Amino acid sequence: MSTYFKTADTYVTGSMTLPQKYYTSQDVFADEMNRIYKNSWVCVGHHSRVAGAGEYFLADVLGESLIILRDKQNQVRAYYNVCRHRGTRICEESEGRFSGSIQCSYHAWTYGLDGTLIGAPFMKELDGFRWEDFPLNPVRLHLWEGFIFVSLSQTPQPFEQAYAPLLNRLQRWNVGGLRVHTRHVYDAATNWKYVFQNFNECYHCPTIHPMLNKFTNYTSAENDLVEGPFLGGYMNITGGDSMTMTGRMCALPLGDLSTGIEKRGFYYTLLPNLLLNIHPDYLMFHMLFPTAPGRTTIVSEWLFNAEAFDKPDFRPQEAVDFWHITNLQDWHVCELAQLGVTSQAYTPGWYSPRESLLAAFDREYLRIME
Ligand code: FES
Ligand SMILES: [Fe+2]
Repeated sequence: MSTYFKTADTYVTGSMTLPQKYYTSQDVFADEMNRIYKNSWVCVGHHSRVAGAGEYFLADVLGESLIILRDKQNQVRAYYNVCRHRGTRICEESEGRFSGSIQCSYHAWTYGLDGTLIGAPFMKELDGFRWEDFPLNPVRLHLWEGFIFVSLSQTPQPFEQAYAPLLNRLQRWNVGGLRVHTRHVYDAATNWKYVFQNFNECYHCPTIHPMLNKFTNYTSAENDLVEGPFLGGYMNITGGDSMTMTGRMCALPLGDLSTGIEKRGFYYTLLPNLLLNIHPDYLMFHMLFPTAPGRTTIVSEWLFNAEAFDKPDFRPQEAVDFWHITNLQDWHVCELAQLGVTSQAYTPGWYSPRESLLAAFDREYLRIME
C-alpha cells in the first residue's frame, strides 16, 4: 500500500442504521435540503460539457432552474433561469448553444453571456429605468478539478475551506483535463442517503454485482477518508486491467500511472451530492438531485482522457456498459431498501464491520441535522 493512502478503522461496534423518519418524512426531507444541500456546494457537472463559448446546460437544484454556460471570456458562469422583466423561465431546452446572447421569448428582453441586460424593447423611452439594475441573477459558482459547483446559500462557506481535505487529492488523474463522453439520467425511487450509503460499501458486491465481483475482491477495500463529509477509499482490481466489460483498458490512462494507481478503483462520496468512481482509464461520477423523501434523480457521466477520443482503440462503451449495468443493480437494491424502510416492521439494524463508512456518513449527517 502506498504511503499516500492512510487507512483507519472507524468501525464502532453496535453502530446502527438510521431511524425510519430520516428516509420517509417530508419534514425531515425539507430540513435536510435546507441544512445540507442549501448550505453546501452542489456539483452540477463537469466543465467539458460547456467546452465552447455560448454552450450551456440547465441544472435543477433545490427546485431552481439554473443556466450554466461558458461566456466569451472562457469563464463558466451560472444564472437563475428567470427573466428580469416579469420573471418568466427563459430557457426550456436542457442544453444547447447561445449565439452570443440570451433572449427571453416572451417580450424579447435580451442578456449578454455575462448576464447584463442588453436589449429591452421600448424601455429606453422610460426615465428612471436603469438597465444595469436588471442583469440575470448570478449564482455563486466554483470550479474544482473541472467540476462545476454552485451554492444557493447567501453566505456559503468558502469552497477552499469546505473542501480542504480534498483539494489536492485528484491531481494525479488530471480530472480538469478529462472530457465527458456519456451521460445517463436515472430516476430512482429511493432516498438520496441510500445511494450514498450503498456507494460506501462493497459488502453487497458478491450478491448484487456478480460481474463486478469478478474484478475486485470486496474484502480488498481500504478506506482513506473515514470521517466527515468526504468518505471513501480504493479497491484493488485483480480480475483485469480495468473495470470494463472485457477487463481491458478501453482508453488512454487518466494520469500518471507510475504512482500506484494503475490497478485500483477509487470510490469517494462527497456530501452533499457527488460520488466519484475513478479507474485507470476513465472516471465516472454521479450527481444526486433529491426530489422527494423517496425519490432521487441521479445523473451519471463518464469522462475520459481528452486525447483518447481520437485513438483507434478508444472503446468507451466497454466502461459505459459495465457501470450502467452495475448502476441499475445498485439503484434497484436502493429502491428495495426504500420499500422496506416504510414498513411498520422496520427498526434500525446493526452495521457490519464492512460498513464503517456508512456509520461515519450517518454520524456526519446527524451532526448537521441535530
Ligand atoms: S418576461 Fe421575459 S421579456 Fe417579458
Ligand atoms: Fe454496488
